[in-house]
Amino acid sequence: MEVGRRDFLKGLAAGTATLAATTMLGSSILAEEAVTEGIEAAENPFAGKKKFAGVGSVREVTEDIVYVGASDKRIELFENVYPIPRGVSYNSYVILDEKIALMDTVDRSVAGQFFENLTAVLAGRDLDYMIVDHMEPDHSSAISEVLVRYPNAKVVCTAPAAVILNNFFDCDISDRLVTVKEGDTLELGKHTLTFVEAPMVHWPEVMMTFDLTSGVLFSADAFGTFGALNGNLFADEVNFETEWLSDARRYLTNIVGKYGPQVQDVLAKAGTIDIKIVCPLHGPVWRDNLGWFIGKYDKWSRYEPEDNAVMIVYGSVYGSTESAANALAGKLSKDGVANVAVYDVSKTHVSELLAEAFRCSHIVLASITYNMGIFTPMRDFLLDLEDHNLSNRAYSFIENGSWSPASGDQMKAITDRMSGSRYIGDKVTFMSSPNGNTYADLCTLAEAIEADLAETSGEAEAVTEAATEAAAAAGTGNTVWRCTVCGFIYDEADELPADYKCPICGVGPDKFEEVNE
Ligand code: FEO
Repeated sequence: MEVGRRDFLKGLAAGTATLAATTMLGSSILAEEAVTEGIEAAENPFAGKKKFAGVGSVREVTEDIVYVGASDKRIELFENVYPIPRGVSYNSYVILDEKIALMDTVDRSVAGQFFENLTAVLAGRDLDYMIVDHMEPDHSSAISEVLVRYPNAKVVCTAPAAVILNNFFDCDISDRLVTVKEGDTLELGKHTLTFVEAPMVHWPEVMMTFDLTSGVLFSADAFGTFGALNGNLFADEVNFETEWLSDARRYLTNIVGKYGPQVQDVLAKAGTIDIKIVCPLHGPVWRDNLGWFIGKYDKWSRYEPEDNAVMIVYGSVYGSTESAANALAGKLSKDGVANVAVYDVSKTHVSELLAEAFRCSHIVLASITYNMGIFTPMRDFLLDLEDHNLSNRAYSFIENGSWSPASGDQMKAITDRMSGSRYIGDKVTFMSSPNGNTYADLCTLAEAIEADLAETSGEAEAVTEAATEAAAAAGTGNTVWRCTVCGFIYDEADELPADYKCPICGVGPDKFEEVNE
């Protein structure tokens, strides 16, 4: 099969037709004849065209599961918040069987490419099911157009997803709606799908779909990452650890970091099924070394440091606090501490700082005193840590103030509110610029951090497991209530207070059910 110049240029314009993508053009599913004949037979709006860019943009995940998503390299900010210089992919998949199922859609920015892909893969066949694992618009924007193009397709989703779908699209699809819950199954022919509820990973309506036949888990946002795909679809086709891991960490910690217990629930469920391939809604597909990536997710969602490492974050206006931070980093390095990470809080996006805080065990916060308080970007960073429930970190403080240093205690007031915070060494205080005495204090602080690093090195996992087991064994003896929206457990008293609001999803006591153990 030849790829015409026009088609190839079309693929290039979409940023998706790469050498790797074109290597599979001769596959049985995507043979040119099948595409052309099928489309003409269906008399759809694309009939008469000989080829489509979609032919060069799709990839087979298995012999009958095909990737039909697309990447956006033009986008600056994901969710209008997070810089993504490497772009992002919006993944969607088609299961080709006696009945055909489409797994989620894409963001509206790449809907054109998505429909070319979908048209090519369907090759004139109709769509039977639109399965909605997640209703956030980066995956649901194209649902309404799918429903118009494929009027026979039924929508399969959870009951909460059906409500959100109606909120977004204000359409009556009751005659096309199939609501499912945990453990329900759907037969496509050869493939049998089952559904796994995953509330708050990352919205309350989320479910994952597991194909019992092929062992493919369609994992919604879980196991996703920032970064556009470049033809290579599978994680084992790229240098994931060196080129993708930092973006995967930044994605998970910023998007779902607040919901660690809910991610843990999903990991526990995943441990009970025989997963061979994971198809997330963003980033590469996993078919190899999955345990390594699950291990990362496990640590991030437990709020357990990934590395026994020091992160120094400084907020400095005229360079003196920066100088103190660098002096501390230099002393640590001279004493043999490797991979010290130093960040200017004003120059580093808070999403990167948050991800690094999830990675590192020890965090040194160095701030000038500003308006009698914490330097504004440092305060924003600390509040972001608190918002994302970062726990179990060792903190040290450096404060500077030209007439009344005050930032140190105020930073500690925020870290005090975070679960499991520990403090290493004495706060280092100096006025305007560091002097010899300051350097002596910084050396003393460095030695305290080094001693703690030595103590925690190699023991982190044992400490965390022991703490987890102790917490599980402790219990409160009170009646246990479970939030029916997000799964949050309340056991602080036998009854929920009348004005109680779930700290995860915000619903009231009427949405809680008693857990009978
Ligand atoms: Fe990628 Fe929660 O959407």
